[in-house]
Amino acid sequence: MRILVTGGAGYIGSVVTEELLSDGHTVVVYDNLSKGHRASISHSTEFVHADLTDAETLGQTFAQHEIEAVVHMAADSLVGESVENPARYYQNNLVAGLCLLNAMRAAGVQHIVFSSTAATYGEPEEQPIAETAPNNPTNPYGASKLAFEHALRWYDKAYDLRYASLRYFNAAGASERCGESHDPETHLIPIALQAAAGSRTHVEIYGDDYPTPDGTCVRDYVHVIDLARAHILALGALDQGSRIYNLGCGGAGYSVREVIQAARRITGRPIPERVGPRRPGDPAILVASADKIKRELGWNPALQDLEVIIESAWRWMLTNPNGYHGT
Ligand code: UFG
Repeated sequence: MRILVTGGAGYIGSVVTEELLSDGHTVVVYDNLSKGHRASISHSTEFVHADLTDAETLGQTFAQHEIEAVVHMAADSLVGESVENPARYYQNNLVAGLCLLNAMRAAGVQHIVFSSTAATYGEPEEQPIAETAPNNPTNPYGASKLAFEHALRWYDKAYDLRYASLRYFNAAGASERCGESHDPETHLIPIALQAAAGSRTHVEIYGDDYPTPDGTCVRDYVHVIDLARAHILALGALDQGSRIYNLGCGGAGYSVREVIQAARRITGRPIPERVGPRRPGDPAILVASADKIKRELGWNPALQDLEVIIESAWRWMLTNPNGYHGT
């Protein structure tokens, strides 16, 4: 298939692009490079450097490349930033997304896989979280992603748009070529590895007084390659109708302290830690039930071992000590 990947220069987008290419698809990456990296884009794709709100370029891209389906990953995704600047999140995650849907309608493209988030659930009462759990986002990031999910549902009813909304838990790890390189970095695993590499002094643990076994927050880390493979399965199922899936590994999840400890084992280096205050908006525990996508599409997160995830991220960091900068 000929697939448009919006946000294909980003961390997850670049790995999804790799997987689509190795599955034999033709990929056009559409990215404004506000957060993504040109160096992460595979030479086997066409690259369109533009914004989704640029209706003319977007329309031309659909026509020129005869796009058949879309994987929509272009978004802002920092919870804290979204609380400070909700306008940015509604603009980039909702308004720009609607521009994409309208361009799809104009081009007659009916299939879309959307990068959604566990942040649509907010602070759920039950763990693991099933797709049927109530949506009560506690920040504009989750709210803007949920608003786009609602648009998808209505576009499906009215215009026969078929969508798969994939609610990511904590994407982590790296492929051989593509890894996580944010500026500033806010995610736990790269921060712990930066401390191991000596490019930061320590990891600050955001609170150790949560109602969890060791007092630190528990999350569900999923390897970015497993995550990417789920997109391919979801694309293949769209003919049978729209759907929403969680993407996580389930189980008990891992606490912040367990992640730091695993990073020490993998790197063989000291990682100093300090306990700081809680980060506003952090739920104590977020663990997925991914039974639905496993059952319906046969998704099998083969790389779910935390050490395998961290090891891949560490290898990428050692090979790319400056991330994509200087490549
Ligand atoms: N943490 C620390 N110290 C740090 C960084 C993180 O203690 O320096 C903690 C956080 O408080 C959290 C855990 O490590 O408990 C994981 O934090 P991340 O920032 O790596 O990931 P989040 O769980 O906050 O965020 C992820 C995605 C978001 C998504 C969210 C869903 O990155 O896009 O899950 O809740 F919104």
